Amino acid sequence: MATSKFEKKEQLYEGKAKVLFATDDPDYVVQYFKDDATAFDGEKKGTINNKGVVNNTVSAVIFKYLEGEGIKTHFVEQISERESITKHLEIIPVEVIVRNITAGSICRRLGIKEGIVLKQPILEYCYKDDDLGDPFICESIIYAFEYATPEEMKYIGDTALKINDLLSKFFGERGITLVDYKLEFGRFKGEVLLADEITPDGCRLWEKGTNEKLDKDRFRQDLGGIEEAYEKVLNKVME
Ligand code: CDP
Repeated sequence: MATSKFEKKEQLYEGKAKVLFATDDPDYVVQYFKDDATAFDGEKKGTINNKGVVNNTVSAVIFKYLEGEGIKTHFVEQISERESITKHLEIIPVEVIVRNITAGSICRRLGIKEGIVLKQPILEYCYKDDDLGDPFICESIIYAFEYATPEEMKYIGDTALKINDLLSKFFGERGITLVDYKLEFGRFKGEVLLADEITPDGCRLWEKGTNEKLDKDRFRQDLGGIEEAYEKVLNKVME
């Protein structure tokens, strides 16, 4: 790992899975990945050993891949096992969920079974607010409350679908089915960039052939073997 030109400074924010630190440059921050795991809006709490190390590396590999394919992201460089430098964004408070196969909340909401392959990807939006449990919202809510502009949402929607093609191919080539996942975007110097992380914490990933779950559902559903599943994703992503 190359030595970084950025110096780590004070803590800015602590989230459920990551801590953000300032650097000596206000345009850049350090993202530190913890082993803490939460589910069901923080009701279930635990630790997944080495998760921070796995997620930092998985996310770095994926963000570099997406950058190489022309997607603009906040990622700058991985500087240690658990830390990466990213651009300091103003986060857009809209979580974008992309689905290729039914699982999780859409099954509960629509009363359908898990594992239905969708005819086309579904894009859903949620308002990013932990206290409210990230409620489902639609575009007119986003515009009425000015969470994002129509131009930003057009870009976000188009980019999310491009990312879906790229990630489905990336994971598919590595023997993993990309079921669904969450994306976040932020503003930086007049541009919208892909933000946050792409890891087994925020994606549903099923092993091709066995359909074994390799993601946070192992924690949510107490399936066991969570550390091994995350390690398996890391090894496949590094192929
Ligand atoms: O997680 P749950 O089943 O309640 O919600 P979902 O809407 O089915 O989640 C779809 C995908 O987005 C899953 O891969 C979740 O891990 C991810 N997600 C997330 O990372 N953070 C959220 N706040 C909501 C969903």
